[in-house]
Amino acid sequence: MITLKSPSELARMREAGRIVAIVLDLLREKIAPGVTTGELDILAEETIRKYGAVPSFKGYRGYPAALCVSINEEVVHGIPGARVIQEGDIVSVDVGTIYKGFQGDAAITVAVGEVSPQARRLLEVTAGALEAGIAQCVAGNRLGDISAAIQSYAESRGFSVIREYTGHGIGQQMHEDPQVPNFGEPGRGVILKSGMTFALEPMVAMGTWHTRVLDDGWTVVTLDGQLSAHFEHTIAVTDGQPEILTRL
Ligand code: MF3
Ligand code: CO
Repeated sequence: MITLKSPSELARMREAGRIVAIVLDLLREKIAPGVTTGELDILAEETIRKYGAVPSFKGYRGYPAALCVSINEEVVHGIPGARVIQEGDIVSVDVGTIYKGFQGDAAITVAVGEVSPQARRLLEVTAGALEAGIAQCVAGNRLGDISAAIQSYAESRGFSVIREYTGHGIGQQMHEDPQVPNFGEPGRGVILKSGMTFALEPMVAMGTWHTRVLDDGWTVVTLDGQLSAHFEHTIAVTDGQPEILTRL
């Protein structure tokens, strides 16, 4: 079950989250045509270590990098390497840190130069779905209120939510109970309390929500090859209200 963080635990989660936010700001600046995804990974790992944290993804179930970089129809868990970012791509970067035993986890999707109007809309709607979920992170609400808010925000705007991957509790482990699906029923599930910490992470697709995993064993892509975007924040319920730990 999900634990309630003490003030000193929350302080460490705030620092883990702050480092994640710093890394994502640097990546947003760095992402451009001609840059390889491996260069982004090096920047992320160097920055995480410079601030005294550890990259949580590296070695997690054998994952080989500090960063996930998922481009266009890739949903999540793309492995950085020699791939070169192109004008018109949408590039999701997902990063996790551990600071003094506590975790932070967040993701953004960035448009590279000119992208199609539908791609731009996909990014806006995915970011908006995350904000709609965060607004439900209020003491006394239930987990299903978060899930339903994310789902209705995205679906009412004509997009689908990925169902095979979810948000999650977070604390001393990156993935703690309960799962936080991006679809669900209001009024169901765990009652939210101050001191709980969650990673909300809508993954939204232009077409089908069905996915498959590439032969590398990690990269998740949409089954129909249409675009997908991903935004994530680590959130604490503090004094009954949502506190975004991965925003500067
Ligand atoms: N941020 C992601 C998540 O919440 C990615 C972790 S997968 C890893 O699940 F293997 F790369 F660590
Ligand atoms: Co996550």
